Amino acid sequence: MKIRPTREVRTTGKIQLLDKVTAELIAAGEVIDRPASVIKELCENALDAGTTQLTVEIQRGGVTFMRVTDNGSGIEPEDIRTAFLRHATSKLRSAADLGNLMSLGFRGEALASIAAMCRVEVLSRVPGQEEGVRYCIEGGAETECSPAGCPEGTTIVVRDIFYNTPARMKFLKKDTAEGGAVEEAVERLAVINPRVSVRFLREGKCVLQTPGNNRPEDAVYAVWGREFYQTLTPVRFEGRGIRVRGFVSKPGHDRGSRSMQHFFLNGRPIRSRLCMAALEEAYRTRIMKGRFPACVLDLRMPPGVCDVNVHPAKLEVRFAEEKAVFDAVYYAVLSAFTGLEQQGVSVRLPGETASAPAREAPAPPPEPVRAAPVPVQPALPRPLPPRPAVPASVPEWVQKTPPELRQAPAPMELEPAPPPQTSPSSRYAGARLIGEWLRTYILLECGEKLILIDKHAAHERLLYEELRAKNEVRRQALLEPLTIHLPGSEYAAALGNRETLARLGFGVEDFGEGCVAVREIPTMLTLSAAAESVMQLCERLAAGEGVPGVDAIDDLLHTIACKAAVRAHDETSPEELSALIRLLDEHEDVRFCPHGRPIAVVLTRAQVEKLFGRIT
Ligand SMILES: Nc1ncnc2c1ncn2[C@@H]1O[C@H](COP(=O)(O)OP(=O)(O)OP(=O)(O)O)[C@@H](O)[C@H]1O
Ligand SMILES: [Mg+2]
Repeated sequence: MKIRPTREVRTTGKIQLLDKVTAELIAAGEVIDRPASVIKELCENALDAGTTQLTVEIQRGGVTFMRVTDNGSGIEPEDIRTAFLRHATSKLRSAADLGNLMSLGFRGEALASIAAMCRVEVLSRVPGQEEGVRYCIEGGAETECSPAGCPEGTTIVVRDIFYNTPARMKFLKKDTAEGGAVEEAVERLAVINPRVSVRFLREGKCVLQTPGNNRPEDAVYAVWGREFYQTLTPVRFEGRGIRVRGFVSKPGHDRGSRSMQHFFLNGRPIRSRLCMAALEEAYRTRIMKGRFPACVLDLRMPPGVCDVNVHPAKLEVRFAEEKAVFDAVYYAVLSAFTGLEQQGVSVRLPGETASAPAREAPAPPPEPVRAAPVPVQPALPRPLPPRPAVPASVPEWVQKTPPELRQAPAPMELEPAPPPQTSPSSRYAGARLIGEWLRTYILLECGEKLILIDKHAAHERLLYEELRAKNEVRRQALLEPLTIHLPGSEYAAALGNRETLARLGFGVEDFGEGCVAVREIPTMLTLSAAAESVMQLCERLAAGEGVPGVDAIDDLLHTIACKAAVRAHDETSPEELSALIRLLDEHEDVRFCPHGRPIAVVLTRAQVEKLFGRIT
């Protein structure tokens, strides 16, 4: 296909067209702001050219060297100059085509922008043709164009980004941060293009390789590793012309930031507050405040009902029917939970019941105006979790109880545990341990008050205080190191913050290919909690800038305390519960968990009697 340039316009008078070089630099700055945006554009071109093998290489975080090699359709020698002209594209003929875009590129701006600010060399051969072309361009000026022998497909080398715009150069971050951003861009493209085998070499090391077998789960596994993959559950949903496929994190595997929320629209990575809100709404009562779900969600819809031509970086999108998109994502996530519930996995926070849905089921998504009709997806059923079986020898009173309340009494209720040993002046002095509710809240009778204590929150806070007081975390060496695969920027953060991790009790070494080997862990953590902690710590370190300060270290200690603490739903013996109460008593000032939620809630006699209508 030929690439066609647009007509040049000349003006005279007061208002002058900027000279070509200045105009190019200004326009280029909107498309290219760092090495990651160059790589994104070059990879998108390769994908549009139908590549099945894509290799990306960078040196010094991409600042001095980037190379993208594909085996796609190549560029005709007679087209090569035109490809580097602004507004020259083979993907769009007229404005009408804008409403029908299926390619990733359409503006004809990327190569022109890259060539304006970097030194570029292209080798390209159209499959089946005997000869290819070599084309070099620097700061928008051609330096070579000659026939060349080269493999089929296209290789583009980009050197010295912003060499002619020092003002922009100043804004580049450290090479590791730029390299991390490139890696994240490659990761996203690799995940959403499972039929393409993507290889990424960073500073000479292969850090990512996908199989290209067209299995999305294999691509996610290859890119983000087993640990992350295991926290996911698949999503398959279709309704009203919108198809949602991908993965979301199982409840209980939430994260400290939104860094692992990845949305795609018709194969293109996007940023969308709408999709994020729909995702988080579906998790609303399944996740603690300040925690976030992860996702890899690919939305497909007719190009006519969405607009990607909103921003030069093409990350922002507009939807013709926002509610339809919101509902599609929301229902897609709920349907994934239904799948989990059917496998017997709890997807709720303690205290929430299946019969009390978090959000009133929204009306089924309205038909998008221009979307092809698809059978309506019925509102998703939310089955009740299986009730515990009533034992054969059920006491008479239980049998008369309404089915909702009929549960076998827990052994602890039959034999109340001895009261915790507390000093008479303490806040739980003379308290009687009644037992535990939902394996989450400790019930204490304290004079005329009923006290509910969140066992996880209490334990977490106590451990956190202990860690802070000691100012060092006791460590133990592992016989076998834990190997953990981390996303690009988190891998870089792990290696760049080894001292901080050591202070937090983790001996971490580079294991190559995006993996770290953890040889020492805090004594207070189990192996699986240690692995989860490393992932979360690196996520936080990657989100921060530079060496973490005191507040950030505190924040990281929270993470360890949270992972080490007894969890809601864990089985805890009455002795352990009593011990926890005693510890709480020794720390009078401990009233809130490290996230600021209360540890204990008190119900007074008057409050309860009011509820029963005994007093008004
Ligand atoms: N790797 C490649 N293989 C084959 N053709 C390519 C490749 N890279 C670029 N081209 C050709 O060069 C043209 C210009 O590329 P460029 O990236 O500048 O614009 P675009 O992809 O059409 O639009 P956009 O600016 O939105 O990316 C493309 O339309 C395509 O025809
Ligand atoms: Mg392009």
